[in-house]
Order: sequence, then structure tokens, then C-alpha cells
Amino acid sequence: SKGEYRHFMLKEIYEQPAVISAALEGRLSDTGVLVESFGPEAAALFARTRQIHIIACGTSYHAGLVARYWLERYAGVPVQVEVASEYRYRYPVVPEGTLFVTLSQSGETADTLAALRYAKTLGYIGALGICNVPGSSLVRESDLTLMTRAGPEIGVASTKAFTTQLVALMLFTLALAKCRDKAPLSADEQTKIVQALKTLMPICQQVLALDSEIETLSQAFAEKHHTLFLGRGAHYPIALEGALKLKEISYIHAEAYPAGELKHGPLALVDSEMPVISVAPNDDLLEKLKSNLQEVRARGGELFVFADENVGIHAQDGIQVLHLPHIHEALAPLLYTLPLQLLSYHVAVLRGTDVDQPRNLAKSVTVE
Ligand code: F6R
Repeated sequence: SKGEYRHFMLKEIYEQPAVISAALEGRLSDTGVLVESFGPEAAALFARTRQIHIIACGTSYHAGLVARYWLERYAGVPVQVEVASEYRYRYPVVPEGTLFVTLSQSGETADTLAALRYAKTLGYIGALGICNVPGSSLVRESDLTLMTRAGPEIGVASTKAFTTQLVALMLFTLALAKCRDKAPLSADEQTKIVQALKTLMPICQQVLALDSEIETLSQAFAEKHHTLFLGRGAHYPIALEGALKLKEISYIHAEAYPAGELKHGPLALVDSEMPVISVAPNDDLLEKLKSNLQEVRARGGELFVFADENVGIHAQDGIQVLHLPHIHEALAPLLYTLPLQLLSYHVAVLRGTDVDQPRNLAKSVTVE
């Protein structure tokens, strides 16, 4: 039941602190990830992994795109990420030592399952499935599995299933880094990320407490027809996910771009009728992002920035800023997802759409 909440989506957004800790439960020591969480064969398979191909659809694909930044940076493994409906109809080249990874909340998405079955004929060293539904086809057909433990998700627009996928993918990154000889992640850094994972629950709660401020911001979007989401690095996929959520439930056209691409085309769209949303965590791309935001401002674009409280981005004419608590850089994509979910939710409520059952969409896409 929805309990005190008006919609399942809102309830599921609020469940995130709890399900994120469930996703971590019993899988961490004080200094690292317990690799056995992926199954008894995981350590041997991860030690042999030289490349990774990640295949998924929709929101799960966005989780895969975030993971690429993590896996390359911390585990030092080259990663390709692709939507299942494209992958299954091409002739992929599989270098020696490549691990195949599927991400699916339902474990029944037709294209993702077809991609997994196809991959089995292509010479991968194994298939890892990251999934929310125990006993699903994807889980049964994968060599290794990690359950995301988000619990049932009723709202068609995925929220907690996405953030728990990110948790699972961070665990995968750390496990891989641990099993490989030459991973860039030092033991010290590994410990810091593990400690940061353990503080995720209270930090997510602090972000959810910003709900009424986000609801106020949402009023600026209710009458708009187009929006632009910007991010850099691992926050580019978070911008993609923010745009997808807004499209799905409010039916407002939303596009996401890596902020550095602005001047290669999309800047032409920016005017006072097109709000621009940006996520600005405290990372080494911040200065570049700030100058992209100036470019938007100079064209009269109205900016909405979700920024780390320490980065010195403050509200001014045409720029509204919501400050988020500081978090370890590696986990920022997870945290910055939350305000974008709430923003879409409130915009949809203002527009009077069917938040939990958006038109034309099904929760589980079991046909091609
Ligand atoms: C959007 C959403 C979808 C799914 C996609 C794949 O909010 O949930 O984009 O992510 O249909 O589904 P799964 O993850 O079950 O394979």
C-alpha cells in the first residue's frame, strides 16, 4: 500500500535510504567488499577480467553508464556500455578476457535477455547479472548474480531500483579492483569509499529533507515545454536519468547533454523559456561546469543548480541553487539522483499526470 504517501513513486523515493542500506548489508568489511557476495566463483572470474561489456535498457542503461566511469577509474578495466536492443542485432567483437554484465530491475526485459543469450555464443569468460528480482530469467541464466534488494517497485518510473543498481555497481567496482593486480584504486582509497558507503543512509535522508524546497522549484517547470539537463563525467548519465524521469511522468520534453557539448549545438536552443538543470558536485570538473553555466546564463537561460554546499555556487539573478551535503566524490552520482527524482515527481503532480502509471508505458517490457 501507499501508506501515508500520495503515490507509490513518492513512497519509493523515500524508501531509498533503507533499501540502499539493505543493498550493502553483509557485503562490506571495514576496508573492502566481500567478493563472495557475487558467488563462490567471482574472485577467480574477476581476477581474469580484462574488459567489460555492460548491456541494459532505459534506466538500467543509465546505471551502466555511471558504472563505466567507476570501473575505468577505480578498477582500471576498459568498459563498453550499450542498450540491449542495439547490441543484440550487431556483431560485437569480444576481446579475450571480457566479462558480460547485464543490468535489469525486472530480470525479464526481452531485449536484455536476448542479449544475454546471444552473448553466451560469443566467447565471454562469464556473465554477471545485477537484478532486483530473485528467480527471474536473468538471474537463472547468469553465471554470477548480485541482487539489488530494492524490494517491489510499483511506480512505473524507476527510482529505488536505479539507486540500488548504483550501489551494486559500486560494490562490483570495488570487488573487481580488489581481485585485479594493477587496479588504480589504493587500499587507502578503497577504505575511504567503503566508509562513505556506510554513511549513505543518513546523507540520503538529509537530501530527502530538501523535498519542500524542491517542490517550490518545481513550479518554474509546470508551464514549460522543454528542459535541458547538464552534467559532466559520471554526472552526465545522472543528467540523462533526470531527463528520462521528467519525460516519463510529466510529459515535458527533456534532453540531457554532457555540459561540454553545449557550444557544439544545443546552446542554440537556450532562452528564457527553456529551464536548464545542472548537477554540480564537488569534483575536478567543477570549474569547467561553472563556465558552461555562465554560457547558459549569458543566453538568458534560467538555471537550476544542485550543488555541493562547499563549491561556492550561490543563487543570483537567473540562477537558483539548492545545496546538497558534501559526499565522497565516488558516491555523488547516487546522491544527485534524488533531487532530480523529486523534481520530476513534483512537476508531474502540478501538471496532474498519472504519476504511477504514465501513459503508453509498462513496468516490465517483456516484448521486443
Ligand atoms: C524507466 C524504467 C525503464 C526500465 C527499462 C528496463 O523509469 O524503469 O527505462 O529501466 O524498461 O527495465 P529493466 O531494468 O527491468 O530491465
